[in-house]
Amino acid sequence: MFRIARIVRSIVLAGLCVIAHCAVADGDTPGGKRPIEVAASAEKGSLKNPHTDKPEMIEAGRKLYMSYSCNGCHGGGGGGGMCPPLTNEVWVYGSEDDTLFRLISLGTVDLQKQGFMRKGREGVVGPMPPHGELIKTDDDLWKIITFIRSVYKGDVSRRNW
Ligand code: HEC
Repeated sequence: MFRIARIVRSIVLAGLCVIAHCAVADGDTPGGKRPIEVAASAEKGSLKNPHTDKPEMIEAGRKLYMSYSCNGCHGGGGGGGMCPPLTNEVWVYGSEDDTLFRLISLGTVDLQKQGFMRKGREGVVGPMPPHGELIKTDDDLWKIITFIRSVYKGDVSRRNW
Protein backbone atom coordinates (compact mmCIF):
# COMPACT_ATOMS: atom_id res chain seq x y z
CA MET A 1 0.00 0.00 0.00
CA PHE A 2 2.69 2.37 1.18
CA ARG A 3 4.83 1.59 -1.82
CA ILE A 4 2.07 2.40 -4.30
CA ALA A 5 1.38 5.71 -2.60
CA ARG A 6 5.07 6.58 -2.89
CA ILE A 7 5.20 5.64 -6.57
CA VAL A 8 2.07 7.68 -7.29
CA ARG A 9 3.57 10.63 -5.44
CA SER A 10 6.79 10.55 -7.42
CA ILE A 11 4.89 10.35 -10.71
CA VAL A 12 2.80 13.38 -9.70
CA LEU A 13 5.92 15.29 -8.63
CA ALA A 14 7.70 14.46 -11.87
CA GLY A 15 4.67 15.71 -13.79
CA LEU A 16 4.64 18.97 -11.87
CA CYS A 17 8.34 19.48 -12.55
CA VAL A 18 7.76 19.04 -16.27
CA ILE A 19 4.93 21.57 -16.21
CA ALA A 20 6.97 24.05 -14.15
CA HIS A 21 9.93 23.62 -16.45
CA CYS A 22 7.84 24.25 -19.56
CA ALA A 23 6.43 27.41 -18.02
CA VAL A 24 9.91 28.77 -17.31
CA ALA A 25 11.27 27.71 -20.69
CA ASP A 26 8.35 29.56 -22.27
CA GLY A 27 9.71 32.89 -21.03
CA ASP A 28 7.72 33.25 -17.82
CA THR A 29 9.31 35.14 -14.97
CA PRO A 30 10.02 32.27 -12.56
CA GLY A 31 7.77 32.57 -9.56
CA GLY A 32 5.57 35.16 -11.26
CA LYS A 33 1.82 34.86 -10.91
CA ARG A 34 -0.91 35.46 -13.45
CA PRO A 35 -2.31 38.98 -13.05
CA ILE A 36 -5.78 37.53 -12.48
CA GLU A 37 -4.55 35.69 -9.35
CA VAL A 38 -2.80 38.79 -8.05
CA ALA A 39 -5.90 40.92 -8.62
CA ALA A 40 -8.00 38.35 -6.75
CA SER A 41 -5.74 38.06 -3.71
CA ALA A 42 -4.26 41.55 -3.19
CA GLU A 43 -6.02 43.99 -0.93
CA LYS A 44 -7.77 46.83 -2.77
CA GLY A 45 -5.47 49.81 -3.21
CA SER A 46 -2.28 47.88 -2.42
CA LEU A 47 -0.92 47.19 -5.91
CA LYS A 48 2.00 49.36 -6.95
CA ASN A 49 4.22 49.31 -10.02
CA PRO A 50 7.74 48.21 -8.98
CA HIS A 51 9.27 49.60 -12.20
CA THR A 52 10.47 53.10 -12.97
CA ASP A 53 10.65 54.93 -16.29
CA LYS A 54 13.95 53.32 -17.35
CA PRO A 55 14.09 53.18 -21.17
CA GLU A 56 14.63 49.39 -21.19
CA MET A 57 11.51 48.85 -19.05
CA ILE A 58 9.43 51.07 -21.31
CA GLU A 59 10.68 49.20 -24.36
CA ALA A 60 9.95 45.81 -22.76
CA GLY A 61 6.45 47.09 -21.92
CA ARG A 62 5.90 48.37 -25.44
CA LYS A 63 6.77 44.96 -26.91
CA LEU A 64 4.36 43.22 -24.52
CA TYR A 65 1.65 45.82 -25.26
CA MET A 66 2.01 44.97 -28.97
CA SER A 67 2.21 41.22 -28.38
CA TYR A 68 -1.11 41.21 -26.48
CA SER A 69 -2.71 43.32 -29.26
CA CYS A 70 -3.59 46.20 -26.97
CA ASN A 71 -2.64 48.35 -29.95
CA GLY A 72 -5.53 46.88 -31.99
CA CYS A 73 -7.92 48.86 -29.80
CA HIS A 74 -5.82 51.61 -28.24
CA GLY A 75 -3.39 52.34 -31.10
CA GLY A 76 0.36 51.60 -31.22
CA GLY A 77 1.28 54.76 -29.35
CA GLY A 78 -1.73 54.48 -27.02
CA GLY A 79 -3.42 57.42 -28.72
CA GLY A 80 -6.73 55.60 -29.13
CA GLY A 81 -8.69 54.80 -32.23
CA MET A 82 -11.51 52.34 -31.88
CA CYS A 83 -11.15 52.65 -28.09
CA PRO A 84 -10.19 55.31 -25.53
CA PRO A 85 -6.74 56.90 -25.66
CA LEU A 86 -4.27 56.04 -22.90
CA THR A 87 -2.33 59.25 -23.43
CA ASN A 88 -4.73 61.87 -22.06
CA GLU A 89 -5.73 63.03 -18.59
CA VAL A 90 -9.09 61.33 -18.66
CA TRP A 91 -8.95 58.02 -16.77
CA VAL A 92 -12.23 56.17 -16.82
CA TYR A 93 -11.84 54.57 -13.37
CA GLY A 94 -8.90 56.61 -12.06
CA SER A 95 -5.19 56.67 -12.81
CA GLU A 96 -3.77 54.76 -9.80
CA ASP A 97 -1.50 51.76 -10.45
CA ASP A 98 -3.88 49.57 -8.49
CA THR A 99 -6.88 50.58 -10.60
CA LEU A 100 -5.12 50.16 -13.95
CA PHE A 101 -3.74 46.73 -12.94
CA ARG A 102 -7.24 45.56 -12.00
CA LEU A 103 -8.97 47.07 -15.03
CA ILE A 104 -6.57 45.38 -17.45
CA SER A 105 -6.73 42.06 -15.53
CA LEU A 106 -10.47 41.89 -14.85
CA GLY A 107 -11.94 43.95 -17.66
CA THR A 108 -14.82 46.41 -17.29
CA VAL A 109 -17.54 43.97 -16.18
CA ASP A 110 -15.65 42.30 -13.32
CA LEU A 111 -14.00 45.55 -12.25
CA GLN A 112 -17.40 47.14 -11.79
CA LYS A 113 -18.57 44.04 -9.88
CA GLN A 114 -15.78 44.79 -7.41
CA GLY A 115 -17.25 48.21 -6.76
CA PHE A 116 -15.13 50.36 -9.07
CA MET A 117 -17.20 53.15 -10.58
CA ARG A 118 -16.79 55.13 -13.77
CA LYS A 119 -15.27 58.49 -12.87
CA GLY A 120 -14.25 59.88 -16.23
CA ARG A 121 -15.77 59.71 -19.65
CA GLU A 122 -13.80 59.32 -22.87
CA GLY A 123 -15.21 59.95 -26.35
CA VAL A 124 -15.59 56.18 -26.81
CA VAL A 125 -17.43 54.16 -24.18
CA GLY A 126 -17.31 50.39 -24.31
CA PRO A 127 -16.23 47.38 -22.30
CA MET A 128 -12.54 46.61 -21.83
CA PRO A 129 -12.06 42.84 -22.18
CA PRO A 130 -10.23 40.97 -19.37
CA HIS A 131 -6.54 40.16 -19.96
CA GLY A 132 -5.51 38.80 -16.57
CA GLU A 133 -5.41 35.21 -17.71
CA LEU A 134 -3.67 35.93 -21.01
CA ILE A 135 -0.81 38.02 -19.68
CA LYS A 136 1.67 35.55 -18.23
CA THR A 137 2.91 37.31 -15.12
CA ASP A 138 2.12 40.29 -12.91
CA ASP A 139 5.58 41.60 -13.76
CA ASP A 140 4.73 41.62 -17.47
CA LEU A 141 1.58 43.60 -16.73
CA TRP A 142 3.60 46.11 -14.67
CA LYS A 143 5.92 46.55 -17.66
CA ILE A 144 2.89 47.23 -19.87
CA ILE A 145 1.66 49.81 -17.35
CA THR A 146 5.15 51.38 -17.37
CA PHE A 147 4.83 51.77 -21.14
CA ILE A 148 1.34 53.30 -20.71
CA ARG A 149 2.75 55.83 -18.24
CA SER A 150 5.47 56.73 -20.74
CA VAL A 151 3.01 57.70 -23.49
CA TYR A 152 0.97 59.97 -21.20
CA LYS A 153 0.73 63.46 -22.65
CA GLY A 154 -1.48 65.24 -20.13
CA ASP A 155 -0.63 67.64 -17.33
CA VAL A 156 2.63 66.57 -15.63
CA SER A 157 1.14 67.07 -12.16
CA ARG A 158 -1.39 64.35 -12.95
CA ARG A 159 1.11 61.90 -14.43
CA ASN A 160 0.95 59.50 -11.45
CA TRP A 161 4.26 57.65 -11.76
C1 HEC B 1 -11.24 44.96 -27.75
C2 HEC B 1 -10.64 46.25 -27.52
C3 HEC B 1 -9.64 46.39 -26.40
C4 HEC B 1 -8.46 45.70 -26.21
C5 HEC B 1 -7.90 44.54 -27.02
C6 HEC B 1 -7.81 46.31 -25.08
N1 HEC B 1 -8.59 47.32 -24.58
FE1 HEC B 1 -8.11 48.56 -23.02
N2 HEC B 1 -9.96 49.44 -23.14
C7 HEC B 1 -10.91 49.14 -24.08
C8 HEC B 1 -12.11 49.91 -23.79
C9 HEC B 1 -13.40 49.89 -24.59
C10 HEC B 1 -11.84 50.67 -22.63
C11 HEC B 1 -12.80 51.58 -21.84
C12 HEC B 1 -13.40 50.73 -20.74
C13 HEC B 1 -14.62 51.29 -20.06
O1 HEC B 1 -15.08 52.37 -20.43
O2 HEC B 1 -15.12 50.60 -19.14
C14 HEC B 1 -10.45 50.37 -22.27
C15 HEC B 1 -9.78 50.97 -21.22
C16 HEC B 1 -8.43 50.79 -20.97
C17 HEC B 1 -7.67 51.57 -20.02
C18 HEC B 1 -8.18 52.75 -19.21
C19 HEC B 1 -8.12 53.98 -20.11
C20 HEC B 1 -8.61 55.26 -19.46
O3 HEC B 1 -8.61 56.30 -20.14
O4 HEC B 1 -8.98 55.24 -18.29
C21 HEC B 1 -6.39 51.07 -20.02
C22 HEC B 1 -5.22 51.56 -19.19
C23 HEC B 1 -6.37 49.98 -20.97
N3 HEC B 1 -7.63 49.85 -21.53
C24 HEC B 1 -5.26 49.21 -21.27
C25 HEC B 1 -5.26 48.12 -22.13
C26 HEC B 1 -4.14 47.19 -22.29
C27 HEC B 1 -2.81 47.30 -21.56
C28 HEC B 1 -4.52 46.24 -23.21
C29 HEC B 1 -3.76 45.03 -23.66
C30 HEC B 1 -3.33 44.12 -22.62
C31 HEC B 1 -5.86 46.60 -23.64
N4 HEC B 1 -6.28 47.73 -22.96
C32 HEC B 1 -6.59 45.90 -24.59
C33 HEC B 1 -10.77 48.27 -25.14
C34 HEC B 1 -9.72 47.40 -25.34
